[in-house]
Amino acid sequence: MSLSAIFAGCATMYKTPYLERDANGCAKLFIEGKPFIVRGGELLNSSGSTAEDMAKHIEASKALNLNTVLLAVAWEQIEKNEGDFNFDELEKIISLAEANDLKLVLLWFGSWKNGFSGYVPHWVMRDTKRFPRVQNAKGENRPCLSPFSEEVLRADKRAFVELMQFIKRVDPQGKVVAMVQVENEIGLLDDSRDRSKIAENAFAQNVPQELIESLSKKGDDLLPEIREAWKANGMKKSGNWTEIFGQKNMLADEMFMAWHYGKFVDALAKEGKAVHNLPMFVNAWVISPDSPIAGKYPSGGPNYRMLDVWQVAAKNIDFFAPDNYLEDYCAKIADFARSGNPIFVPEACALWLGDKNSAQAKALYTIGEYGAIGFSPFGIDHAVYSPSHALGRAYEVIENLSAEITKAEAGKNMRGFMQQKNKSDTLDFGDIKVDISYSFPYKGYGLIIRLSKEDFLIAASGADLYFKSKSGKGIAYGLVREGSYKNGEWKTAKYLGGDEGGLVNLKFPPVYLREDADEGMISVVRAHIFEVDNSTSDNTQIF
Ligand code: DGJ
Repeated sequence: MSLSAIFAGCATMYKTPYLERDANGCAKLFIEGKPFIVRGGELLNSSGSTAEDMAKHIEASKALNLNTVLLAVAWEQIEKNEGDFNFDELEKIISLAEANDLKLVLLWFGSWKNGFSGYVPHWVMRDTKRFPRVQNAKGENRPCLSPFSEEVLRADKRAFVELMQFIKRVDPQGKVVAMVQVENEIGLLDDSRDRSKIAENAFAQNVPQELIESLSKKGDDLLPEIREAWKANGMKKSGNWTEIFGQKNMLADEMFMAWHYGKFVDALAKEGKAVHNLPMFVNAWVISPDSPIAGKYPSGGPNYRMLDVWQVAAKNIDFFAPDNYLEDYCAKIADFARSGNPIFVPEACALWLGDKNSAQAKALYTIGEYGAIGFSPFGIDHAVYSPSHALGRAYEVIENLSAEITKAEAGKNMRGFMQQKNKSDTLDFGDIKVDISYSFPYKGYGLIIRLSKEDFLIAASGADLYFKSKSGKGIAYGLVREGSYKNGEWKTAKYLGGDEGGLVNLKFPPVYLREDADEGMISVVRAHIFEVDNSTSDNTQIF
């Protein structure tokens, strides 16, 4: 073998996980050179903080067909005393994951967790002089470190870089640690901006030219949240934050904080990646329509209004991920799927609001509609997610279809659907559209992949699918087969005809199961669907 072939082999061997965009611009995650869809679950904040505790969650994760666990790494735990790093527990956790064929996404709970600084080591927490805090208008310290402090940045960055060095040492090829989240739900709560002297001085300065120039270059691609405000203030190219963007909905304050948090996080990501190049992301507290005022949600976090600012400030961050707990799940993802931002949902399904049974629908929808990097409900170790939870079946289906999913182009030949308040949906496949009606006692969901002109692959539950021809011709459903993939080949378990086979529509689950159907009953079906000159199959209900 030639030397260059050996080097090429080494390069492949040591290629860490990376993101690559497909022809459609959709970002996919690759681990060990192969596409990987994160079938995830995030542990409760304190779970998995020791190997002993982590061991308790492995079996349940496997039972639910997870391939990835998201868990916190707390700064206070790895650097109890300044400069004295200890990764013993994490090393055992990584070995445990590897032994059980699970990937990990590590969540760096550094300077901020949900806006506050509850996870910083005691020596940082105590020392308010060396590690200044955000202040309120009265000049009082808040329990959050200041993103304007060089010393805070230096200390956080050192710990983060140590973490990346450790990961590289124990998992150099990224076989286990797939991605890293930098900080957690960053931003400032209870005020729209830091009122400390140093922050107020910075706020009075001109908006950095780097930001102005990058926003200008985006032109019409600039998102309306900022474009409209900028226009309303005369599209000035220099001036301070208020002069250029105005304070409607506290926008100037929020952009100012976003810029500084973004720069802070970027410095961590840049040095961390230089050590060990893993995909890195920042998660966002999604803005609730009930309290759309910066400060009611963490001001300056990478929420949908601030995507443009964060993309410029934090170029080393690969994507911004919504913690999507709100009722209108679909609209909230759409907010984040702009400006080329890849979709990954690290947290969803608010157990504390009683949302115990939507993870399966959200998983299929998110992967199907967006070709997402992955999906992960929060609190996966909560008793709600017993081995019989429907999420397990959804993840089984995603695993089974993963080769077809990764080949498909989301939004074009792959679509997802999910019932929220709607009773129906319509999906557009160009010459064919699909009307979906939901009439089950539970909420329907699924995904459709058009494998070729006439070959459709559908995984769904609780929905009736009416295919329609745009040309006005009738539609025929030929050879409807229920089954799954085995070793890459489609294997038919049952041919569906007559009542089950779809004279006018396809039923999920099929007729023979409908009376006993429940959320976990996802049927996977392939069908030839084509136009015919046949007015009886015009999709009107005939019986
Ligand atoms: C969002 C946070 O990011 C999580 O760490 C967790 O605290 C959840 N909220 C639930 O409270």
